[in-house]
Amino acid sequence: MAAPVEIRALSRDDLARVGEIRRAERIEVLFEQRGTELIARHGSWDAPNWHVDGEGDHSVDAQQRAVEHYLDMGGTAIGAFSDAHLVGIGVVVPHLRPGIAQLAFLHVSSEVRATGIGIRLCDDLETIARRAGDSEMVVTATPSGNTVRFYLRRGFRPMEHPLPELFALEPEDVHMSKPL
Ligand SMILES: CC(C)(COP(=O)(O)OP(=O)(O)OC[C@H]1O[C@@H](n2cnc3c(N)ncnc32)[C@H](O)[C@@H]1OP(=O)(O)O)[C@@H](O)C(=O)NCCC(=O)NCCS
Repeated sequence: MAAPVEIRALSRDDLARVGEIRRAERIEVLFEQRGTELIARHGSWDAPNWHVDGEGDHSVDAQQRAVEHYLDMGGTAIGAFSDAHLVGIGVVVPHLRPGIAQLAFLHVSSEVRATGIGIRLCDDLETIARRAGDSEMVVTATPSGNTVRFYLRRGFRPMEHPLPELFALEPEDVHMSKPL
């Protein structure tokens, strides 16, 4: 039987543990956003695990720095633990703009995906944002089929006008929002 999964707040000292998460994913659908429309492209792509060496975009080091940056912006990080291993991480930045929170980071380890951990993390991040007083949450979603469908099922919808500051950083992603 799988070990129970516990979700708790992460401290800055925990963040190096982001390297415990296995990012790899076989992607069979990529979505392109045109306004509120999503166009599916079928194929076969591989997202690699984060590299343990170096500081490039796909390194563990870059992920740790990204989460540290969100905490510096006033964000909160939560982790999902199974058998003392970090198997999921989520970060929310309240008040990115007045009333608008950003779901800034969400990753579940490949071996435990589709078991409900992402839903639990996402629900907790929404609760944190709502308690901080925000009424909307935006996310810059990886355009893979599984990820975009995950957010659609959680009530997020493609934005006609993405926030320019987020669009500039990730023009290929799907920019979504939901009322809280
Ligand atoms: C997207 C992600 C965070 C979802 O987390 P998860 O723990 O796998 O999702 P859950 O188990 O809570 O599943 C939620 C729903 O999505 C489906 N789902 C999510 N990921 C899936 C996958 N890889 N394969 C099949 N189904 C998947 C589940 O069946 C479930 O469906 P339901 O809402 O109809 O019940 C996770 O798959 C992930 O880390 N993906 C790779 C990294 C990524 O793209 N992160 C998002 C960056 S914006």
